[in-house]
Order: sequence, then structure tokens, then C-alpha cells
Amino acid sequence: MNYAQIVGWGYAVPSRVMTNLELEKMVDTTDEWIRSRTGIVERRIAGPKETTSSLGIRAAQHALQVADLSPSKLDLVIVATTSPDYPMPSSAAIVQDGIGATKAGAFDLNAACSGFVYALSVGSGLIASGQYENILIVGADTLSRWVDWTDRATCVLFGDGAGAFVLQKTDSPTGLRSCVLGSDGSGVNALLVPAGGTKSPISLEQIQNRQNFIKMKGPEVYRFAVNVMVQAARQALSAAEMSVDDIDLFIPHQANIRIIQSAMKALKIPPEKVFTNVQHYGNTSAASIPIALCEAIAEGRVHQGSHLALVGFGAGLSWGAAVLHWGVSTTSVPETWWKSMVRNVQTQEEALRLFALKAHRRLELAGLDAFRRLSNGHDA
Ligand code: UT7
Repeated sequence: MNYAQIVGWGYAVPSRVMTNLELEKMVDTTDEWIRSRTGIVERRIAGPKETTSSLGIRAAQHALQVADLSPSKLDLVIVATTSPDYPMPSSAAIVQDGIGATKAGAFDLNAACSGFVYALSVGSGLIASGQYENILIVGADTLSRWVDWTDRATCVLFGDGAGAFVLQKTDSPTGLRSCVLGSDGSGVNALLVPAGGTKSPISLEQIQNRQNFIKMKGPEVYRFAVNVMVQAARQALSAAEMSVDDIDLFIPHQANIRIIQSAMKALKIPPEKVFTNVQHYGNTSAASIPIALCEAIAEGRVHQGSHLALVGFGAGLSWGAAVLHWGVSTTSVPETWWKSMVRNVQTQEEALRLFALKAHRRLELAGLDAFRRLSNGHDA
């Protein structure tokens, strides 16, 4: 039987920190309101040149390094995002090119803030089926670009970032133990960006009405979030034939500390078993669970044999919960000089291969163009 083991992890956030005090100068809010209603103290905001894919690439490079895997060994790149670089093509294609995953397929997956749990489920399933051996899953969002910086009800909540994990085929029973994915599309209006899609293409009128920004019915999403987190976590635990006591660490979607506390209280999970970092990053959407998981690993809270529960929720409305058995050591071994040299050579090799591929495509296009001009000349 095949199992998908997590063998590499990494995250990336912009260096620009935006504090609540800064927001006080932009909208009618206070540090006290934001802290007490959400738990958020600061968030990271992408610089002008940073995008969902550029953050995804940085996170993926860390993950590949931890996995000690050449990007050419990847079979598939999945990017969970709700804020892609372009409406098309996918951000996954840009990540695939950026890391030199020359033999991988690539696609985006949009399940909003639940996206990472969805990607984990899809990636693990494709490995379990025997179709693929190495899959990169990335959760990345740059919601600061969708945020209306004049709307105090939403602009204080979101931040940017990316987290990436390498899934690898193994025959030892590890990885995903259970997964619950859900959707209630009747709640589409509770949290959405109304314009910019095919229903309401971007126009001057839409921009003037600020319809190209996130609109959210906060209290409605709040109630949904608490209920669905409790329900989905219970279902995932029951599918894994486990109880709350069997879980070493809960990693919930980091949207609001009050949502997390209410759900964990209802599930009777003690605070020391819950990882939170919402205070530092705000809600980074699809990146929130993977960033939290990476930080939990770095803090020594995940070990070989640990059982983890991940629970996400978001626009859609969507939700996802997973129980994971962690199969590898999380103690970082310093990279030897020769390993780093081999990796550098491999990276150079991939860069060369990509360069040759792009040059070939240019030559082909130039040849086609010359041929067209020649045949047009003959026709004339
Ligand atoms: O990934 C999923 C994404 N979304 C979420 O998880 C969001 C879920 N919802 C929430 O986290 C909460 O609903 C919020 C944090 C968004 C809002 O907290 P709330 O306790 O539900 O506040 P509210 O929307 O009921 O607003 C209470 C008051 C209102 O004033 P009035 O009408 O009582 O005078 C708001 O206008 O707070 C006001 N308010 C603010 N005041 C200061 C709303 N935003 C702010 C603000 N600063 N930033």
C-alpha cells in the first residue's frame, strides 16, 4: 500500500511588518479593538514586487531543501490560493517554472482559506493511488491586494504569506489518517470579491463602487467558523478512529483568536495543545495552516510519531479538517558542504535546462514568424 509522507517543509512571509498602530493612522480603529476582537497585533504585507507565486517559490525552495529533493524529481505542483498572480494562467505554473520543476504538472486549487487542507487531501490521494511519487503542495495568498484599505471591518484582518510541503511516496503507514472536506455554496455572499471574475468583469463602475475588494459579513462568518471547526474536527477524528486525547497538536486556521478559543473550548482541547500565531501574521488565508505548521516544527512541537489535527474554514463557504501522522524526524541536520555542492550543481543544471527550453521556444516562434512572412511574400 502507498502512503504520502511529508518529507519537506518551508514558509515565506514578506519582510514588511504592518502593526495595528499603523492601521490606526489609516482607518477609524484602535490597537485595543483589533487585539481584543481578533488577537492580531501585526501582519506581513507584500512589497510591490512580491506576489503569491514569488512567496510560493521561496517557501517551496525551503521545503525542497529540507526534503533534500531535486525539483526535477517533482511529479506535480499544487498551489492552493484564492489570490493568484493572474486570472490565468495558474500561479502553480509560475511556481513550477520558478523552482525548476521541469517534469511536473501544475495547477491551482481554490478553496479559499481551507485550500491547504484540500491540497493535502488531493496530493496524498494521488500518491496513495500510485500515480505519483513526489508532490509539492503550496498554500499561498497575497490578500493585501484584495483588501479595501478604507474598510476597517476587513483591512485589519488579513496578511500575506506562503507555506510549502513536499509529499513523498512511502510504504510505511504514515501521513494523512483521515480528511473531511466540505462546502456550502449558499454562503457565497458572506465572503467574496464581487468584481473581477466572469460574472462582473472589472470595469470603471465596479472600481468606483469598490467591488474589486473583499466584502465580508463578519459576524455571519464568525458563527459559521466556530460551528464548522467543531463539527469538521469531530468528523475527522472519528474517521481516524481517534479522540481529542490522541492528538498531540491542533493547528487551526489562524483567522481570529476568539474563533480558535471558542472552537477549542467546545472540543475540550486544552490551550497547550493548540498552536496559534495569528498575533504575528493575521489571516493569511491558504497560507495560514502551513505557516503555523512550519513554525510549530521550528518550535519543537512536532516530532516523529506525532498526531496532528488541522482544521480550516473560509470563503465558499468551505471547510476542511485532517488528521496527520507525522512520519519523519524534525531535527534539522546541518547540510554538509558536498550535499550543498550537489544541490547547487543540480539547480544550475535545471536552470540550464529551463534556459534551453525557453531559447528553443523563442527560436521556434522566430522560425514560424519568418516562415509566415516568407509565405505572405509568396502570396502577394
Ligand atoms: O478565513 C475566514 C475569514 N474571515 C473570518 O474568519 C472573519 C470572521 N469574523 C470575525 O472575525 C469578526 O466578525 C470580526 C473580527 C470581523 C468583527 O468582530 P465582531 O465582534 O463580530 O464585530 P462586528 O462586526 O459585530 O462589529 C462590532 C462593532 C461595529 O460597530 P457598531 O455597529 O457596534 O457601532 C463595527 O462597525 O465594531 C465596529 N468595527 C470596528 N471598530 C473598530 C468593525 N471593525 C472595526 C475596527 N475597529 N477595525
